[in-house]
Order: sequence, then C-alpha cells, then structure tokens
Amino acid sequence: MALSGLYAALGLLFGAAAAAAFGPVPRITWEHREVQLVHFQEPEVFNYSTLLLSDGKDVLYVGAREVIFALNSVNIAEKHHELYWKVTEDKKTKCADKGKSKQTECLNYVRVLQPLNDDVLYVCGTNAFQPICDHLNLMSFELRGKNEDGKGRCPFDPAQSYTSVMVDGELYSGTSYNFLGSEPIISRNSHQSPLRTEYAIPWLNEPSFVFADVIRADRNSTEEDDDKVYFFFTEMSVEYEFVGKLMIPRISRVCKRDQGGLRTLQKKWTSFLKARLICTTPDKNLIFNIINDVFILKSPSLKEPVIYGVFTPQLNNMGLSAVCAYNLSTVEDVFSKGKYMQSATVEQSHTKWVRYNGEIPKPRPGACINKEARAANYMSSLNLPDKTLQFVKDHPLMDDSVTPIGDRPRLIKRDVRYTQIVVDRVTALNGSMYDVMFVSTDKGALHKAISYENGMHIIEEIQLFPNFEPVQTLLLSSKKGKRYLYAGSNSGVVQSPVAFCDKYSTCVDCVLARDPYCAWKSHEASCINILKEDEIERDWIQNVGGDASSCPDKVRENSLQHTFKHGSTAELKCSQKSNLAQVVWKFKDDVLKVESPKYRLLEKALLIFNLSEGDSGIYQCLSEEKVKNKKFSQVVAKHVLELKKIQPTTVDPIQPAAQTEASSSIPFPPTGTSFLSCVGSDSPPSLTNTMPDVWSSTELVMVMLLPPFLSDQAQHVSVHGTFHLFCQATGPSDARFVWKKNGQKMEVCVSEQSHALADGRVHILSWVKDAVAENSEYCCSVLSKAGNKTSKVLITVAGKDSIGQAEWVKEYDSWRSAVSEHHAMMQNWKTTWESCKKKDTP
Ligand SMILES: *[C@@H]1O[C@H](CO)[C@@H](O)[C@H](O)[C@H]1NC(C)=O
Ligand SMILES: *[C@@H]1O[C@H](CO)[C@@H](O)[C@H](O)[C@H]1NC(C)=O
Ligand SMILES: *[C@@H]1O[C@H](CO)[C@@H](O)[C@H](O)[C@H]1NC(C)=O
Ligand SMILES: *[C@@H]1O[C@H](CO)[C@@H](O)[C@H](O)[C@H]1NC(C)=O
Ligand SMILES: *[C@@H]1O[C@H](CO)[C@@H](O)[C@H](O)[C@H]1NC(C)=O
Ligand SMILES: *[C@@H]1O[C@H](CO)[C@@H](O)[C@H](O)[C@H]1NC(C)=O
Repeated sequence: MALSGLYAALGLLFGAAAAAAFGPVPRITWEHREVQLVHFQEPEVFNYSTLLLSDGKDVLYVGAREVIFALNSVNIAEKHHELYWKVTEDKKTKCADKGKSKQTECLNYVRVLQPLNDDVLYVCGTNAFQPICDHLNLMSFELRGKNEDGKGRCPFDPAQSYTSVMVDGELYSGTSYNFLGSEPIISRNSHQSPLRTEYAIPWLNEPSFVFADVIRADRNSTEEDDDKVYFFFTEMSVEYEFVGKLMIPRISRVCKRDQGGLRTLQKKWTSFLKARLICTTPDKNLIFNIINDVFILKSPSLKEPVIYGVFTPQLNNMGLSAVCAYNLSTVEDVFSKGKYMQSATVEQSHTKWVRYNGEIPKPRPGACINKEARAANYMSSLNLPDKTLQFVKDHPLMDDSVTPIGDRPRLIKRDVRYTQIVVDRVTALNGSMYDVMFVSTDKGALHKAISYENGMHIIEEIQLFPNFEPVQTLLLSSKKGKRYLYAGSNSGVVQSPVAFCDKYSTCVDCVLARDPYCAWKSHEASCINILKEDEIERDWIQNVGGDASSCPDKVRENSLQHTFKHGSTAELKCSQKSNLAQVVWKFKDDVLKVESPKYRLLEKALLIFNLSEGDSGIYQCLSEEKVKNKKFSQVVAKHVLELKKIQPTTVDPIQPAAQTEASSSIPFPPTGTSFLSCVGSDSPPSLTNTMPDVWSSTELVMVMLLPPFLSDQAQHVSVHGTFHLFCQATGPSDARFVWKKNGQKMEVCVSEQSHALADGRVHILSWVKDAVAENSEYCCSVLSKAGNKTSKVLITVAGKDSIGQAEWVKEYDSWRSAVSEHHAMMQNWKTTWESCKKKDTP
C-alpha cells in the first residue's frame, strides 16, 4: 500500500498549495427573482428532507417533519393530500427524559418514503428516537396503523445519516441501529430473509450514508448474474494510519439473492464487499475524500450505468468541491477480480491493513451466486462453504480502488460546497450525447454543467432558495414534456425547469449558452427547449461547442433616446448577463476609452460625467465573448444622447435664490482637480463660466446649494427600483443636510461626506438611497448658522418592471464605488488646496 504517497498528497493539501484558479465560472447567474420557480412550503412545517416521485401518477411525495404531502409534480404549489404524523405526548416526554430536545429532536422526522406497490408507500419516521414504519394507503392517504419497529430502517436521531432503496418490495437501508447512533448497519428488511451487516469495524466504521440504489443484472447475459444493491458512504479509514481521523469514501454492494450463511454469517450478508472510491486530481495534489451524494445514470442509450458522485476534501480550507464519474464495469471488476485486504497485528494490539496475497477460497468470497457457482452446485448462499464465508467475514474490504473515468474529476470548483447531484442525458441536435450535471450547493444554488472535450462548462447558476440555505435533496424527473428538478431544504421545496432557453433573446446568446437543451428557432426568432418540441426541424441552430457563426448577422436593435443637461451625468444602462463576456462601449462606432476620468464603467452601466455638446451621439454597448479563439460580439444596448439647453428646473419656492438657479448644471464628480492651479489663497480660483457659481462668491460664509440630482438624470425611476439622489452644498462649517420625502423627514439611508475647504467653508455631498412605488417629492435642505437653503425634486415612477433585491444591492455597490471615487477626488483636491496655501503663506 502506497502510504507514503498518500501522506505526501495530504501534506500538499494541508499546505494549501495548488490553490490555482479552480473551476469554470458559471456563464449565467440567475438570481432567485429572475427565474420562474414553483415553491411549496407550509407554515410551521420544516425539514422537507425526503422526496419521492411517482412519475406514472404525476405526484411528488414530500416527507417533512411530522407530515407527508402529495403534490402535483407538474405544479408543486398544488397540494393533493397531507397527512400529519405526530409523536404521541407520552413518547415525547420519554424522549425528553433521555436528554433530547422536546421542541426539535423529539419529533417525527420522515426519513423513508418508498413505493411498496402502486397503492401503498412504505414510510418511516424517527418518532422521538423510537423509529417506526408504516404503510401509507395512497387512495385514502391514511396510514394503515402497522406501527412496525423502524430500528435499522430509519435513524433514531434526525441528525444522523440514512439512505434506503426499495427493491421488489424489500427495503434496503443504511442507517444506525441504536439510540446512541453508535451501531451502523446496512440491512434488508424482508419477511423471508432479513439480512444485515456484521457489527464489526472492518465492515462499517463510523459511516455516514449518502445513497443507495439497485442495478439490475443484464437479463440477456449468459452469466445469470444477480441484481446488486450499491451503498455509498464515507467512513473512517482502517487502512491508512494518520494523525487524526482520515475519512474514506466507499462504495459497497450486496447481492439481491443473498440468503446469508447457514452457520457462519447466519442472517448476515455473504456478499458484502466494499472498496475505496478515488476522486483526486491526476497529480494527486487534491484529494476529495468525503462523498456527499451520488446519482446513478441509467439510460437506455448507455452501454452501462455511470455513477456520479459529489465530493469535498476533509480539510476544506480552500472551499473546494468535485464531481467524479465511475464506470460500473470498473466497480464490478474491483469486486469480482480485485485483491482483498487483510488485517495484520503488529506490536501487541496495533493492527495494520495490508494486501492479502494468499490463496483465495472458492467460490470467490463475496461473489453473487451466478452461473459458475451454480455449476459447482452452490445454488444459494446457504450452501456456501465455511471457508468462503469466513474469508468474506474477515475481508470485506478490497485492496483495489475504484478509479474515476478519465482518472480525474469531471469538475472541480472553488468557493462552493456541493451537496447533491442529479444527471440528465441529453441528445443534442447533431446526435452527440451530453450528460448534464445538476449540482446543488449548501447556499441554495444549483449549478448546471456539461463536460466538453475534457473541459468543463457551467452553463448556469440558479439561486433556488432565496434564503441561501443548503439544498438537502435533489430529484430529477426526465419524463417527456415534464422535465423538472425538485429541491428540498429545511424551509421548503422548489420546482425548477431544467433549462431557461427562453431567457436568451438572440441567436448568438442562445448558441453561446452551450446548453444542449436549447436551440435557436430562426423563423420564430426564439430560443426553444428542444425536448419540449414534438419534432426537430432542420433549420434550428445549436452548437454545444459554442460556435455561433451560423447565426444570422442581422439582429433587431432598439435604441433608447436620452436628453441631458449640460454638465450633468449620464447613466447608460447595459445589462449583459454572461459572466464570460466582456463589455465594450462604442461611441460613434469607435471603441470608447473608458479609462478616461470622463467615464466610469459600472457593472451594468456606463457613467459619463460633465456632459457637453461633444458627447451627443450614438453609444453602443457590445458584449464580446470568446469561445475557443473565436470572438462573438453582439450589441446589447444602444443609447442616443442629445444635449438639452440649460433650463432652471428646480426652484426653491421659499428662497428662489439666483445662485440656485445659476447652479442648475451639475458636475459629477464636482469641480475637480483638473482646473486647480496654484492660486493665492486670498483670491478665489478663476473658473470657466460653465462651472457653477459656487466658488466665485466673495461671501465666504454664504450657503450654496445645488439642487438634487438623480443617478439617472432622466428623473424617473422604476417601481421599487432603487435610485440615488445627490445634493451638494458649500457653507460654513456647521452646515448639515436634512432630507425630506413627501414632507416627512428621512432618517435612514442618508449619507453625507464633507470636506473642509481651504477658506474655512465646507463642501458637503449628501445622498439618499431609496425605492418608491409612487411619484414622490424629495427635498434636500442645508441648515447652517449662515442660513438655510432647500431644494426639491419630483421623482416620477415609470414602467412596471421591478428590480430584484440582489440587483439592487449590486447597483448600490456600484454607486458606492463611484462615490468613493468622488471621495478620493475631493481628498486630492483638498491636498492641492492645502499645498497651494502653504506655498503662499511665507
Ligand atoms: C430542521 O429545520 C430547522 C429549521 O430550518 C433546522 O434548524 C434544523 O436543523 C433542521 N433539523 C434537521 C434534523 O434537519
Ligand atoms: C435482450 O435481447 C432481446 C432479444 O435479443 C432484445 O430485444 C432486448 O432488447 C435485449 N434486452 C437487453 C436489456 O439488452
Ligand atoms: C468507461 O466506459 C467508457 C464507455 O463505456 C469507456 O470509453 C471508458 O474507457 C471507460 N473508462 C474506464 C476508466 O474504464
Ligand atoms: C456535435 O457538435 C459538437 C459541437 O460542435 C461537436 O463537438 C460534436 O462532435 C458534434 N457531434 C457530431 C456527432 O457531429
Ligand atoms: C467639463 O467640461 C468642460 C468642457 O465642456 C471643461 O471645460 C471642464 O473642465 C470640465 N469639468 C470637469 C470637472 O471635468
Ligand atoms: C434654519 O432652519 C432651522 C431648523 O429648521 C431653524 O431653527 C433656523 O432658525 C433656520 N435658520 C434660518 C436663518 O432661517
């Protein structure tokens, strides 16, 4: 056993080396409000942890805390049935007496929901640490009252891991067998032949179960092989010595026809074998040794099932996750041909696990009863010789490991913890097959990814749960016309389509998405989900490689018209969604040099300061995306800017001061360093006459106020969309701002920055962040001992589009950065003033 290799590898992991930029960036990020998802949640109901789909009936069964629901799987907001399954008061008290929490732990958490037949579900719950199972009649949606002991089928403790699968009416489960959770078990619940694992460390060592599924034998094969049930879990290693506990991801399997042994391994599995699952980078620098979930892709188009697992490293200081895929044949080979491990005692009580190189008894220990065994007259596991049984009892662990397809993870991603996985096999228009991986995160998001030519492409990231809570279960329905994903969390269940093709409005966008579900339908000019269409047409455009050159050049362009005042600031919006694209602005067909202080490029807009005649014209926002050395660019937004003659717009009714009117042009950032030359401190700086009259005043203590201006000079905002209003003033050092909205004083969301000027006055910039549903009047007043000034503006609400909360935050952040830029400028300015002053004093 290459222990030293593992040490070295883990050492590197400790060293947090190889922290290279891992993983592709999702091309599109859909915020929760940007996508149409269906939610199901009931007040006072939590822990929607168990989901079961009945595809035939279009029903989604949901097991939550103390309740089971039957929902319409096409629209989960529609509830068909609910059944409360509560713990009796007596049981609750007993549970609390044992030191468990009456409000949380001593409740009934539904952990098993499995179909027994068309009309009955087998259900189990933790039932205040006394697990029970029952039959749920689907007609009446009532329990039959069987109250079977759920020990070994359902955990006692809701915090403990569990997995189960129903195979031909018998429940196979992996869980713990006692109150303390210290006795792990993989068992078959069956009247004829209940079987379980040996309670011994070599069999199961503090496992954490994640998944179980059955794989049917090939009925056409001449091998007459048995159906096999696979279990996946992480457990403590016995084979590696390590400082502290080293976890190992495992795959184990049992055979369906196993009957246990006659004397040795009586009522125990005679076919239980387990092996290590490897998920490491080829250089072994990163070892993913915790398995979080598994999905077994069984598609008619596949020669053999493919096992997909999501992993995280044990010491996850880098926040990494990985997806590894395994061929079933690789797994089978390990169990049917691989070497076994055996324990050897070194120095008194210390045991070491090493490869077993001795003779292997016949029939092969742990093998299912197949044609070969039958030919040797072993018709059932009950006939197996003691030698074989004793061997498997002592050697359940394989020395060979299961290596992933391609010897590397399919996906490695940084800064994310993957929790669950489902995979859909999609045939693209040109006949190529893609395994689309849907991987959920512990922050309520979903990543949809494909692997392409050994590379990885994350098509999109979808925020399924608005509160960023972990996704605990993920289910895929791949029924034609009803392809949906269902995700369960502590607070509810979400139903999501598998693709958002209709969100792509141009052919280039539709193709660049590289989504095998989506294609461009030219004559309708829409991006469609190919699996929803009845027949495929020739002229659809799709290229999962991302080559959009077959898209037509002509696209309809709408342009937005703006008129702006001289000296003001323009905000030209351009929301391009792709995280892989670069935004390029063009003005009069030339690329704009946005590095110039005249411009500021925000995430979703371009700001142009101090507008003048020369700035009028056509602005185009282009999104440029590179795919394999090919660059695709498309116009995302087009703005036409036109300057308006200066007109006094905001007049203070109380003090219609001339200064206010004169200063109706608003420079932003305010009059800057560009014209600051060293002038005598006793003579005010000479200014060009386009500048506001603020600085030429000889009355040093006079209060000057510029009227409020909006970040978007259009002076109207969208319903509930955030905006910022700015006011600037100069005045004596005690000057301060007061904001009023519809006559009411505003206290929240008011910010202020003030800077002392060399002549003793202060310059104050104040702004408010707000969102309104109706037209509102805002007043900004500057109060000081030298006098007060008020200016007001009416904000009108236009359009019905609401802006999402997240977008809101981003916008605010963008503005914050713009404002901090302003701050830097003010500082700069002050320094210059001060240095000028110093020079003049002597
Ligand atoms: C159940 O949900 C509650 C509320 O979100 C959460 O605090 C708790 O940890 C969950 N319990 C289990 C066992 O998942
Ligand atoms: C088994 O063989 C029959 C006939 O040769 C064929 O029609 C069927 O598809 C095969 N089934 C499988 C699972 O390969
Ligand atoms: C897995 O199976 C595929 C096709 O069945 C094959 O191309 C590939 O080489 C196999 N990989 C491994 C590691 O055996
Ligand atoms: C389908 O298109 C993709 C992307 O261009 C390409 O990689 C693949 O080879 C094509 N498949 C077939 C069968 O032509
Ligand atoms: C604003 O633009 C004018 C020309 O239109 C220029 O003279 C002035 O210096 C600019 N002001 C700032 C602060 O850049
Ligand atoms: C300015 O406003 C404050 C508060 O509203 C008021 O107390 C003060 O008298 C006003 N000053 C002048 C000069 O109007």
